[in-house]
Amino acid sequence: MALSDFTGPDYIDAWTADLDRRWPERAMMAECVVRALVRWCNEGVVDPSEEKRHAVIRVLELGVGAAGLARSVLNSLADASGEGPPATVEYTGIEIEPALVLHGKELLETAGHRDIRLVHADLKDVAWTAGIGPFDAAFSLQTFHDLGGIDALEAVYRQILGILAPGGLLVNADFVVPFEKDDPERPRRLPVETHKVLLSSLGYVDFRCEMQRGKKACMAARRP
Ligand SMILES: C[S@@+](CC[C@H](N)C(=O)[O-])C[C@H]1O[C@@H](n2cnc3c(N)ncnc32)[C@H](O)[C@@H]1O
Repeated sequence: MALSDFTGPDYIDAWTADLDRRWPERAMMAECVVRALVRWCNEGVVDPSEEKRHAVIRVLELGVGAAGLARSVLNSLADASGEGPPATVEYTGIEIEPALVLHGKELLETAGHRDIRLVHADLKDVAWTAGIGPFDAAFSLQTFHDLGGIDALEAVYRQILGILAPGGLLVNADFVVPFEKDDPERPRRLPVETHKVLLSSLGYVDFRCEMQRGKKACMAARRP
């Protein structure tokens, strides 16, 4: 069900609860995204010559929804890696639904996060990357299948590569098994191998399928 199918004062929470009920693997996928980002941060992949933790970590989320994953990522990355003061995590989220942009901003600010930017934009629009970046990491949960198919997926992967810093990480968790209702001529829930081939052909390296459960997989790759 779409966000617009829900009403009442807590309609955003009701929409998210419905997603969680229908796709119980979402929780594991969200944890997998956070783990992959924290591991990357701990490994210092962004700048292997740097022995200390990063003072500032710039992250981008595609398809923010109710911002629950954003909150977990912000909390976990600030606490991640080594000794010394917590890193400053600068967060940018792209979201097509204006109500979710407002909701995400309020939720993250209420949780005490200050370096946040919620952008109302359409990931199918060629211009969504204008004026943003570079980012050390980008992540997305259950969003890219909504873009409509392999051409749109390739376009968004290419755009993300263009705004990732060298060594930057992309983590995408999404459906990788088709639904019965899907048009086999225009598939939009694409297998892990298709993501791997697309990402490699665009120039990403170190592809990993971090986890596959139910109809979803959590996949990661890096800009060289
Ligand atoms: C199924 S929800 C997942 C939300 C969140 N990532 C989560 O897992 O809770 C997909 C999200 O992507 C957003 N979205 C879908 N198509 C989009 C587009 N073309 N541009 C930007 N955001 C989009 C939707 O509004 C929605 O918030």
